[in-house]
Amino acid sequence: MKDDLHYMPIKIGEVELKNPFVVASGPTTKRVDQLELAEREGWAAASIKLTMIPDPYINYEPRYRWLKKEKLHTFTAEYRLEMEQGLRLVEAARRKCREIVIIANYSCVEPDLEGWQDAARRFEAAGAQMLELNFCCPNMSFNVDVLSQGKKEGRPSSGASMGDDENFVRLVTEKTREVTSLPVIVKITPEGGRIAEVSKAAYDAGATAVCSAGNRLGIPSIDVWNYKKPIYHLQGENTMGALSGPWIKPLALRDVFEIRRLVGPGPSIIGTGGVASWEDAVEMMMCGADSIGVCTQTMLSGFSFLEKWMKPLKEYMRKMGFQRAKDLRDLLLEEIKPATDLTIWAGYAQVDLTKCSSCGLCVEIGHCNAIVMTDDGAQVDSEGCQGCSTCIDICTKKAITMVETGQVIMRDDINICV
Ligand SMILES: Cc1cc2nc3c(=O)[nH]c(=O)nc-3n(C[C@H](O)[C@H](O)[C@H](O)COP(=O)(O)O)c2cc1C
Repeated sequence: MKDDLHYMPIKIGEVELKNPFVVASGPTTKRVDQLELAEREGWAAASIKLTMIPDPYINYEPRYRWLKKEKLHTFTAEYRLEMEQGLRLVEAARRKCREIVIIANYSCVEPDLEGWQDAARRFEAAGAQMLELNFCCPNMSFNVDVLSQGKKEGRPSSGASMGDDENFVRLVTEKTREVTSLPVIVKITPEGGRIAEVSKAAYDAGATAVCSAGNRLGIPSIDVWNYKKPIYHLQGENTMGALSGPWIKPLALRDVFEIRRLVGPGPSIIGTGGVASWEDAVEMMMCGADSIGVCTQTMLSGFSFLEKWMKPLKEYMRKMGFQRAKDLRDLLLEEIKPATDLTIWAGYAQVDLTKCSSCGLCVEIGHCNAIVMTDDGAQVDSEGCQGCSTCIDICTKKAITMVETGQVIMRDDINICV
């Protein structure tokens, strides 16, 4: 179904995707009807729900919360696939879907690597077009590790528990490469704080792409009046949650940026985490992603929004003079400067008194004493104003703007203790 609107091809290794949009592994990729629908709605690829090998040792009916105000999704309990279910899903998807590229996402707890290799062979035989090694899931053994102050001998280790160990990631990737000719995606975790180094190890071992997971483990809001009761419905205890959705985007952009900076322009990156609009996707590509994984947004609103993204995305590209998705890639790599290299312009805030409502919010700003309230409204002492711009964001009437005086402030001139 190669309609023009959804056609914006990119490549992951040798595999051409008709556009950069991949349904990231999760609850919207665990049934074949979901994959068929994603295909009908123009998605280029889908990574099926995690298959655990051996069978999942933590498996529940799902418990999710979408915290609208925080733009944060969190989940605790989740259902994973057993090997046979994963294989059947891939087989059925290949029978029923014609165009969407099917990615098998799996994680293995076997320390001897046999399980990883066996899974690669079996998913290839089932018809998977790409393999995705899951070193990212933070909500199984990693959750237990964090709450038990570390990994323990004898306890199963999967997903993010292994994702900070570049030697292990390298080894599994190499061993997988030995038994398959399929492209291998390594889905990595930011939890170990070394996402770029681990990615490099994966590429060095022959990975075709890395997928940056975005997901972090955290403690979402607590009801302080009833702190023993979790915010999740139908769940007895509080626990950590795997966080995703728009809240996570700034961190996910950084993950992609760090990987791209370290590994250079060659390797493919599937940037994932918090993408909820076509603009988010553009930002992700500008930071270094070739393609874009989306999970939470598909949970909240299905697959049909892709059409609403493609139209303005194409229009944007036309206006900006970009021909191909690839033209967006890496545009921010040289733009994001170290803190030592910033140009800071001198300037001060000014208030448009015709818009000021005299609410006094700007006067309350704790780090600033340059704003006072007069009978006419808020007034800024331009000499005392440091130009931080917090007042612009606090003002509900859009009454404050910055006046740039043109002079560059050198760091030596600033005495923050005055
Ligand atoms: C409920 C839920 C289940 C998920 N299950 C998986 C999974 O089985 N395998 C996997 O690699 N990632 C899984 N993820 C992670 C997503 O694929 C994605 O990397 C992450 O949520 C960040 O992207 P997003 O903000 O678009 O959701 C899951 C995410 C959520 C929210």
